[in-house]
This record gives sequence, C-alpha cells and structure tokens, in this order.
Amino acid sequence: MTLLYHGLEERGLVWRDIVAARVPQMPLLRWGHDEVDPQEVRYIAAWNAPAEFFGQFPNLEILFSVGAGIDQLPINALPPHVRVVRMVEQGIITGMAEYVALACLALHRDLPFFISEQRAGRWSYRHTRLASQSRIGVMGLGELGRAALDVLRPLGFPLSGWSRSGREIEGVTCFAGTSTLDAFLAQSDILVCLLPLTDETRGILCRANFAKMPAGSAVINAGRGGHLVADDLIEALDAGRLRAAMLDVTNPEPLPEGHPFYRHPAIFLTPHVAAETRHDTAGNVLADNLERLLAGEALLGEVDRKRGY
Ligand code: NAP
Ligand code: GLV
Repeated sequence: MTLLYHGLEERGLVWRDIVAARVPQMPLLRWGHDEVDPQEVRYIAAWNAPAEFFGQFPNLEILFSVGAGIDQLPINALPPHVRVVRMVEQGIITGMAEYVALACLALHRDLPFFISEQRAGRWSYRHTRLASQSRIGVMGLGELGRAALDVLRPLGFPLSGWSRSGREIEGVTCFAGTSTLDAFLAQSDILVCLLPLTDETRGILCRANFAKMPAGSAVINAGRGGHLVADDLIEALDAGRLRAAMLDVTNPEPLPEGHPFYRHPAIFLTPHVAAETRHDTAGNVLADNLERLLAGEALLGEVDRKRGY
C-alpha cells in the first residue's frame, strides 16, 4: 500500500518526514527519488500532473491535491471510484485572507491610479472614500471566502457574499444561487472572486456581469484564471465601466510575454501567490487525513466529484 508524492522536491522532503513521524505505517515515497512499484500505489499527493501520469497506477484509490483547488488536476480522466481530496489548511487560508485584505484596501484607496500617476511624474489629487462607502461582495463562501470576510469585517466595509447554497455569516448579507447573482453584483463596488473553477463558474467574470455592477467598480480575482474573460475585462476598464482590477490568477499561467494585463495601468497582477500551500501545516493536514483514513473516518476536504469542488 504505497503513498506516492509528486511535486516540489523541497515540500516532498518535509512531507516525507512529517508522515514518517506521524503515520510510520504508511511511508511517503517521492516520485523520481524513491523506487516505486506502480501496482502498489493506492494514494497519490500531487499539485498537478498529466493524465498519463495517473494512468500508470491501476490501483489508485485516493488523489490528494496539494492545493485547495482541484481543477489543475486531470480529474475527469480518473476512474469514477477514485476519491479526490483537496487541501484545507491554515497556511492557505491565512495567506488568502491577507491577500484579499491587501487587494480590497488597494482598490478601495485607488492605489493603481496613484501608482500610475507617480510613474508618469504627476502629483494627482483624487478624493478618497472611507471603508463604509465601499461595498465588498465576495463570490464563494467556502474556507477562503469566509476567511476573507473575517479580515474585512473589522475594517468597516459593508459586506456581502454569494454562494450556491447560501450561508449565514455574521455581518454579511448572503445571497444564494444563480437567481440572486444580479442583485448581488448590483451592490458590489469591489467584487472578489473566490470560487472554484467548474463548468458553472467558468467565465463568470465577463462583460454581461460587469455591466450589472455599479459603474466604476473594481474586481479582484484570486480564484482561477478561467473565471475571467480577459478581453471583457480590458474592454470594461478601457471604457471606464470598471475602475481597476487586481488579478492573482490568469489563463494561461504563466501569462505570455506581451499580454496586455502586464502593462495596463488599471491592473495589478501577481503571479498566483495569493495563498501558497505551506509545507509544514499542509504536511500535517495530509498526516491528519492518513490517520483518518486508517481509522475509517471521513477525510477533511473530500471533493464531491459530481459537483466538481
Ligand atoms: P470551498 O471551501 O470549496 O468553497 C467554494 C465556495 O464556492 C462555496 O461557498 C460554494 O458554494 C461556492 N460555489 C461553488 N460553485 C458555485 C456556483 N456555481 N455558484 C455559486 N457559488 C458556488 O473552496 P475554497 O477553499 O474556499 O477555495 C476556493 C478556490 O480558491 C479554490 O477552488 C481555488 O480555485 C482558489 N484558490 C486560489 C488560490 C490562489 O493562490 N490564488 C489559493 C487557493 C485556492 P456552497 O457553499 O454552496 O457549496
Ligand atoms: C492554489 O491555487 C490552490 O488551489 O491551493
């Protein structure tokens, strides 16, 4: 019964040691370093690998994603009985909360405008707003959306959230389902996307939805690049329909040289660094799940493959 790790070498070493200390009966073997009998592989931990890689392991039972998201893995190519578990760990959650706080404050206080003016050598005054005047709407009220709302709440922003099934969150106006999307967008001066990428959410940051937001609003995408229609964003920014955007994820990644996002004055771009899986905390979550598995208990972060997240 082999647990196989595929990914960054540095993380593999940390995870090997954590698993050896906490679940010694299930040593973690590292792809490319340890000798592996493909027939013996039951569990794989990976960030991303092509379908052919997983096809080598006929007895695979569980795929543990190194990330909170799973769309980077070829899930549809896996046999239906293979269980998929995403990473729910405090390092990712805290990292995302920090990023969303940074992005919301930056857009709320018009940082793209002031930086662009500075670069142009201009001392350009523009009136500022208080947090109470910028309504923030968070799309996705899962682990990350809720953590983001928690850091925004004390800053005084009026907060709302949108999800599939609805939530009750203190101090947050919650919207549920497709029928409420227009009303949610209409009152989001800053829209934060923290959705998983599924067939239902692909392209959700598009011209039609930008048109439903208040004029001059701003967008933050820290979900996946596939949520955003790039041309629609550029068009909305150039027309002044949107004021600015902060993007941590793009499609594709890395973004090709010369892409308009790099130089657009109203776009802040970070290279998918909003929330990184932390070697230590995530290694311990993997070990928690291995213990749960051996005890026959439910796994933390198991994905509903039909739902896609
Ligand atoms: P999660 O706990 O699974 O939460 C997903 C949320 O999205 C849930 O509230 C869910 O609604 C909602 N949702 C899903 N499909 C929807 C739909 N069709 N309409 C409306 N709401 C929908 O996921 P998470 O841990 O918060 O992570 C979210 C995503 O963040 C990941 O999938 C990944 O793509 C991205 N991410 C990015 C980074 C980065 O560095 N940029 C890092 C980590 C993760 P219900 O509550 O009703 O189920
Ligand atoms: C990063 O993007 C993740 O899904 O954890």
